[in-house]
Amino acid sequence: MIRKFYKSILALAVAVSISVGYVAAQDSTSTAAAAPAGGGDVAKGEELFKNNCAQCHAATAEVVVGPGLAGIEERRDYAWIKKWINNPMGVVASGDKYANELYNKFNKTQMTAFGAFGDAEVKAILAYVKSAGAPAVAAPTGGSSTTTAPAETGGGKFINVILVALLVIMGLVLVALLGILQLLNKLSGADAGSADASLSFGEKLQAGLKNVAANKTVRSAIVWAFILLATKATFDGMYGIGVHQGYAPKQPIAFSHKLHAGEMKINCAYCHTGVYKGKQSGIPSANICMNCHNAIKRESPEIQKIYTAIETNKPIEWVRVHNLPDLAYFNHAQHTNVGGLECKNCHGEIEKMEVVQQRSTLTMGWCIDCHRKTEVNGKDNGYYTKLMEAHKAVSKGAMKVQDNGGLECAKCHY
Ligand code: HEC
Ligand code: HEC
Ligand code: HEC
Ligand code: HEC
Ligand code: HEC
Ligand code: HEC
Repeated sequence: MIRKFYKSILALAVAVSISVGYVAAQDSTSTAAAAPAGGGDVAKGEELFKNNCAQCHAATAEVVVGPGLAGIEERRDYAWIKKWINNPMGVVASGDKYANELYNKFNKTQMTAFGAFGDAEVKAILAYVKSAGAPAVAAPTGGSSTTTAPAETGGGKFINVILVALLVIMGLVLVALLGILQLLNKLSGADAGSADASLSFGEKLQAGLKNVAANKTVRSAIVWAFILLATKATFDGMYGIGVHQGYAPKQPIAFSHKLHAGEMKINCAYCHTGVYKGKQSGIPSANICMNCHNAIKRESPEIQKIYTAIETNKPIEWVRVHNLPDLAYFNHAQHTNVGGLECKNCHGEIEKMEVVQQRSTLTMGWCIDCHRKTEVNGKDNGYYTKLMEAHKAVSKGAMKVQDNGGLECAKCHY
């Protein structure tokens, strides 16, 4: 009875070791990255970074909208970084030389202020940048990126940490149990030494293997290993569902935003006609392309595809990049027109992309996070001016989107 119990614990211990060995072999890097660096919480930093910074910054040296943040703690001291993240335009306005040079170098692109970030948040982000940026090969600066690897989900790391902890505990239990089992074997006189000396080595091996296969302990170890690995796969899957940050599919026509929106400076709304007016910003029909391409570059095989689409009356099958699940309601006009946001707040600098890439996570946390910290834009809006006065009467802080119902479930879910 007691031995049976010990044996099943033994089996569990073996299973955990197998699972951990397997997981560690599969992604040794992510286990290593889970170790906290510099006092900040890497996992929290990763989440903060992906929700707030990733659309403009890489954790490597690569330039996205702003500079790559790898090595930032060597370039600037902590106090400066904190002040900058809390109020970048304030640092520029204070006449800080470094800040002004940087601001000019990035064509006076204004970084979003994160006034609510305290030491814990900033340190977590820095710890994440350090852990994520260090091992990667620094990409040449100056270019835009089109092929950042899809974001790694945090779920895997969490499970790995649990598995490693289990491994350590099980290892200790294993040692103790082995000792006890040996003792029990000795007491019951079932000790080894009874092997038939006349058997050849090959026969002994075969008999040994048979024993192993028939052994209950081994079989339950395999079952446990299977269950643990299946659990890990489920967790990984759950954390990753619906998050497609970094997604940049190949399109049927090699249409370049860098050329059209960047170099030629065609207004976004010229093609995405609904973006200031309605829910959908919309993808342009081939006719809009024809406004120019009935004359420009007709001979190009890529432009010929536009002609074929019109002649055969089959719309170009652009691959959708951003896609919220049906349960969520998102409206462009509410954000671009009423909210006064720019496209790059959510999409990154599309005008620098050869191939469109999803830069933000598009998770519920991402929406909520912005609604918590963004002030309502009351400019030229009499209705809002009144609301803001009412808000001022009851509360000290500026009126944020959350104060106007931006956290209510029904605003985003029907
Ligand atoms: C809307 C784009 C945008 C977002 C979002 C953004 N930044 Fe920036 N950031 C910039 C730009 C652009 C610069 C370069 C200076 C400038 O033009 O203001 C910059 C500069 C910096 C610098 C100085 C870099 C250096 O090399 O000296 C740090 C540090 C920084 N950002 C941190 C952050 C962190 C942390 C977040 C997220 C909490 C963040 N930024 C979010 C655009 C952004
Ligand atoms: C000349 C027309 C044109 C202009 C100008 C243009 N776009 Fe586009 N855009 C397209 C086409 C065509 C697609 C679909 C193919 C693709 O994804 O590249 C697209 C796709 C997109 C997508 C991805 C849509 C999805 O499937 O999720 C975004 C985001 C986007 N554009 C934003 C912008 C922004 C921001 C600007 C201005 C800086 C802009 N576009 C200017 C034609 C245009
Ligand atoms: C406002 C005018 C204008 C509009 C609208 C426009 N384009 Fe262009 N497009 C250009 C110009 C100019 C070039 C550069 C031609 C050159 O390289 O000389 C170009 C180049 C291209 C190229 C590269 C062709 C090659 O072989 O080098 C493709 C592909 C393309 N456009 C697709 C599209 C598609 C698809 C649309 C509609 C969504 C579109 N364009 C809308 C002006 C336009
Ligand atoms: C507040 C964040 C936000 C801003 C600002 C924003 N977008 Fe979007 N955009 C989204 C989200 C979220 C989606 C996915 C919507 C969906 O799947 O229903 C999206 C989807 C798109 C698409 C795919 C087609 C569609 O309508 O769903 C295009 C094109 C696009 N945006 C262009 C733009 C342009 C151009 C601007 C600036 C004028 C802009 N967006 C500003 C968040 C934003
Ligand atoms: C970059 C910041 C930002 C992000 C990201 C963002 N929003 Fe918003 N959102 C705003 C602002 C600003 C407003 C306020 C518009 C106004 O002035 O009423 C707003 C308003 C709204 C409203 C109307 C609220 C009301 O009180 O009427 C809805 C609904 C909404 N957002 C949904 C979403 C959803 C869904 C997402 C994620 C897919 C999202 N938002 C992401 C900034 C953002
Ligand atoms: C500002 C917009 C916004 C608000 C407010 C909001 N949600 Fe969501 N919610 C979303 C978006 C966007 C998604 C889809 C996210 C994804 O696919 O990762 C979502 C997804 C969900 C899901 C599906 C599970 C998941 O994580 O994918 C549930 C359940 C949900 N929300 C419940 C709620 C409840 C309950 C509230 C109110 C307390 C709420 N939401 C408020 C935007 C919002």
